[in-house]
Formats: sequence, structure tokens, C-alpha cells
Amino acid sequence: MSGVLEILKYPDPRLAEKSQRVEIFDADLHRFLDDMATSMYAANGIGLAAPQVNRLWRLFIIDIRNQDDRYNRILEFINPVLSNGRGSIDFEEACLSVPGISEFVKRKAEIRVEYQDRFGNPQLMDADGLLAVAVQHENDHLDGHLFIERVSPLKRRLLKRKLEKTLLL
Ligand code: NI
Repeated sequence: MSGVLEILKYPDPRLAEKSQRVEIFDADLHRFLDDMATSMYAANGIGLAAPQVNRLWRLFIIDIRNQDDRYNRILEFINPVLSNGRGSIDFEEACLSVPGISEFVKRKAEIRVEYQDRFGNPQLMDADGLLAVAVQHENDHLDGHLFIERVSPLKRRLLKRKLEKTLLL
């Protein structure tokens, strides 16, 4: 049985920490990945990064099979490295760690991601559209960044006010 992990919420300072490379690809890692999937589905998310569940490991999961039929399974990215970013896409993003907020963010339209699978095997994927956006959003979590940091300064001030109000409720 896999369990539901607590998802940290903004402004928890742990969300701003930098994650470390995964070095050991064992049963504990597999259990953690399965727990992350259970937690993501329980929260109706399509992406979740390890630091969001208080584990500072460089890994995230994405499941967009309902949005893009090129993918028919959950995707697991461990120790991802992004490169070859090109083009630009504006996409309305939301985050399980920032409930109730969605904002348009500018991202690279295409991105290459080199990573390891759960067994430590090196993998490479070229992503576009929603997957490219999701990979960049989740990868930001590994460096302690949230999507609300990427909106324009004016919008950010408005957002901050909105978030402060949310927190007062
Ligand atoms: Ni997020």
C-alpha cells in the first residue's frame, strides 16, 4: 500500500530550499515514487516534485495522459537536466503548493530533459506543449522556486495581496 504524503503549502520556507541529487535507486526510492503518485492523484494534480512533500531530492513526477494522448503512463524524472530550450509559450499554471492561485507564466515552448528512471538508467526526452511547461514548473521546485516568482512585478504585487488575504482566512 502506498500512502498519501502531506504537501507543503506556500509560504512554507522549506519550499525555497535546493534539492540534492538522488544517488541510491533502491526499494525506498520506488516506495517514495509510488507514494508521490498516490499523493498527486489524491490532490488532483498533474505534477509533483519531491520537495513539495518535504524530501529534498531532485525528482518529480508528471501525469498528463488525460491532456495529451502521446503519453499513456505516469512519467518519472530523476536528476533531470534541462537543455535546448527554444520558443516561448504562455500557459496558465497552478501549483498544489499554492492553492487557489493560477497565473499565466512564460516558459520555453520546447525543452530537452536528460534524466534517470527509477532504476538509475539514463533517459532523454524532448518535450513540447503542456509537458514542456510541466517539466519546467516541476524543475523549478528542485531549485526552490515557485511559479508565482515568474509572473511580472505588477502581477506579483497583486498576487502577494491575494495570497496574504488567502492566508488570513
Ligand atoms: Ni508546483
